[in-house]
Amino acid sequence: MSNSGEAELLHTYKGIPFTTRSSPELLKSLDTFDAREDDVLLVSYPKSGTHWLAGVITKLYRTQVTITSPIEFGDISQLEELNKLSSKRIIPTHLDYNMLPPNFKNKKCKMIYISRNPKDTAVSMFHYYRDNPNLPTVDTWTAFFDLFLKGNVVCGSWFDHFLSWAEHEDEKNILFLFYEDMKKDLPKVVKEIATFLSLNVSDNDIQDICKKSSFSEMKNDTEKENSDPSHTVCALTSNRKLIFRKGAVGDWKNYFTPKQNIRFQETFNEKLKLSKM
Ligand code: A3P
Repeated sequence: MSNSGEAELLHTYKGIPFTTRSSPELLKSLDTFDAREDDVLLVSYPKSGTHWLAGVITKLYRTQVTITSPIEFGDISQLEELNKLSSKRIIPTHLDYNMLPPNFKNKKCKMIYISRNPKDTAVSMFHYYRDNPNLPTVDTWTAFFDLFLKGNVVCGSWFDHFLSWAEHEDEKNILFLFYEDMKKDLPKVVKEIATFLSLNVSDNDIQDICKKSSFSEMKNDTEKENSDPSHTVCALTSNRKLIFRKGAVGDWKNYFTPKQNIRFQETFNEKLKLSKM
């Protein structure tokens, strides 16, 4: 990683690296954030399919909903902006469960956590680091692999993030989804989301939503003139074009060396040994 960028682009809060786009004042104030009972949280570790899921959710609602910018993004005025919204709020976040404003937990707000094979997540994040001027520069995959495994990347360790949420897998207000399941059978997952959100949708609607949520459709949408290129649900960029890269399962095989694969698997087994998930 180049020394120059890192110091200015990242800061650490409660042991987790954030970009300077998340101000320390905002992060401190999250504890007192006023959640609403009908808020829906869209939670992910970066590069897990957040935009894909957000696309599906907005298409599922027929009433007016607002996908806000991520709750941890911006300066302190972000909280005021969120308070002012009159419509139902779909709030994205990359926060670890322990950092989530307690009000969301007390009010039992619905939360959807999407995760993805961490090896593919790592590769996706490597490209994101390379293309995103808001993130430090990484020179090689080898260097990034080490950073990812140690959790020295923005949003911290994938393992800690996943575990902090997986501990709550039995809570009825949290739905856990996997990117790979969406790739395998999107209509099934869309139905599951609709049931979780108590939304009535016909099979035709589901087919239509799935068609409009394909990787190619979503990628093409960002090229259209009327799309808003500066609205993302990721706290790390406001450039939608950076989001849609390959959209595949198993791309890690093109990057991991056999040795890296063994090291990764050992860490995975060790960290997740107590997780039922
Ligand atoms: P890749 O970099 O592997 O292509 P996030 O939205 O959390 O930042 O995740 C981005 C990842 O999700 C990228 O992965 C992106 O290509 C993929 N993605 C976005 N929309 C998708 C879709 N409709 N279908 C499949 N993958 C999608």
